[in-house]
Amino acid sequence: MAPSINIVVIGGSFAGLHIAHSVLRDVPDAKVTLVNPSHTFYWNIAAPRIVAKPTAFRPDQYLLPIKDAFAGYRSDAFEFVLGAATAIETAAKTVTVKPNAGEPKTLSYDYLVIASGSTTSATDGSLTGTPIPFKQSNHDDMESLIQAAQEHIAGAKQIVIGGAGPIGVELAGELAEAVEQSGNAGKVSITIVSGTERVLPMLKSSASSAARKMLEHKKVKVLTSKRVAGVETPADDSTSWTVNLEGGDKLEADLYIPTTGVTPNNTFIPAQLLDRDGWVTVSKEMRVQSSDGTKLPIFAAGDITNNSMRLSFKAVEQAAVAAANLKADIVGGASIKTYEQGDSIMMVVPVGESGGTGQVFGIVPFSFMVKMIKGKHYFLDKAPGAVAGKA
Ligand SMILES: Cc1cc2nc3c(=O)[nH]c(=O)nc-3n(C[C@H](O)[C@H](O)[C@H](O)COP(=O)(O)OP(=O)(O)OC[C@H]3O[C@@H](n4cnc5c(N)ncnc54)[C@H](O)[C@@H]3O)c2cc1C
Ligand SMILES: *[C@@H]1O[C@H](CO)[C@@H](O)[C@H](O)[C@H]1NC(C)=O
Ligand SMILES: *[C@@H]1O[C@H](CO)[C@@H](O)[C@H](O)[C@H]1NC(C)=O
Repeated sequence: MAPSINIVVIGGSFAGLHIAHSVLRDVPDAKVTLVNPSHTFYWNIAAPRIVAKPTAFRPDQYLLPIKDAFAGYRSDAFEFVLGAATAIETAAKTVTVKPNAGEPKTLSYDYLVIASGSTTSATDGSLTGTPIPFKQSNHDDMESLIQAAQEHIAGAKQIVIGGAGPIGVELAGELAEAVEQSGNAGKVSITIVSGTERVLPMLKSSASSAARKMLEHKKVKVLTSKRVAGVETPADDSTSWTVNLEGGDKLEADLYIPTTGVTPNNTFIPAQLLDRDGWVTVSKEMRVQSSDGTKLPIFAAGDITNNSMRLSFKAVEQAAVAAANLKADIVGGASIKTYEQGDSIMMVVPVGESGGTGQVFGIVPFSFMVKMIKGKHYFLDKAPGAVAGKA
């Protein structure tokens, strides 16, 4: 008999993939339909090195086909829809999907999972004209987008990075090393602008000073307590951007890469399910809460939720809770798990291949440990596990 419980999962990344696999493994009667605009899962954790060093990794190491990872299930239990969700009707329990090719279609669900994540302004290039794909795009074009970004970066002479959180610091380290490795030392300037008085302001101050020292050693100019007030686009005949800093200073750049801020992928989500900032409101059981009080068969997990730690391992933790409670609903059990994000910071920040800093269980790790844990490969060996739902 064909599976009879329809579960639609929106978003095929850390959270959505984990939930889809978990349900398929444990609920024989479930049919999972996964919707995602790209046919591959993107190991974006390695994005700072991928865009700065085109030959460091192969595309097949960081862009992994999603469908192949589901080949082991009954063929009538899994369907992959290459496209994007454009609307949810909670009363009718339907999702409208715009496939990359073909006419829009409507999917009915018994349970819905929202795992559409977040994006950054660099990813769509809205601020600066050049997409730097730190996250998935909304088309099936990741390989060409990444290649274009790599070429653009390789041709830049004056690079300004906005923001000195982990992404900005990792990117600055990789870019500086790439310049050195390509024999262009002295010909390319890299400046990182931090609005706060130290880089990596969320970490202990010894981590901040370690990162700053490593960046300066790699000839990166570090500006602190300088907020980017705006960016002026080049006139038609020039490629020179002006980055305006608060207080009146200006920086010339032929490439400006903003690294701060994440925005929710929520354009298809009804307003009653969103908080003031546009994130999906969830309970500790990862059940989506509607502001009108309706009880819904909808779960959410990962960056899209109103849990504030937007990190991949937190997305997977949330996904495990959502999957357990979803499965309990289907088989008629009680909710069994809750998610508590806690307040301890776990962050490892490579500054190039040779070292880095971070904070793990309250301790700032030695540089050589950061190299061993993350700096060598950016956890690339974990990508197959993530797409197989085993992470
Ligand atoms: C450069 C960079 C480096 C990072 N490094 C780290 C790190 O070292 N460690 C760490 O823990 N975290 C890191 N993060 C954070 C991590 O990337 C996120 O926490 C993680 O990707 C969240 O996973 P997710 O599954 O919730 O959503 P996402 O990864 O954002 O994925 C959402 C998915 O949903 C799809 N989607 C969106 N809209 C729709 C729609 N309408 N219909 C269908 N599908 C849709 C997208 O295409 C995408 O595939 C980093 C982030 C960035 C930007
Ligand atoms: C996420 O949302 C942003 C802003 O609406 C959009 O530009 C981007 O294409 C979306 N990403 C995906 C994968 O749909
Ligand atoms: C998310 O929103 C829900 C509903 O408003 C609320 O109960 C919950 O506490 C919020 N979560 C966080 C982490 O703020």
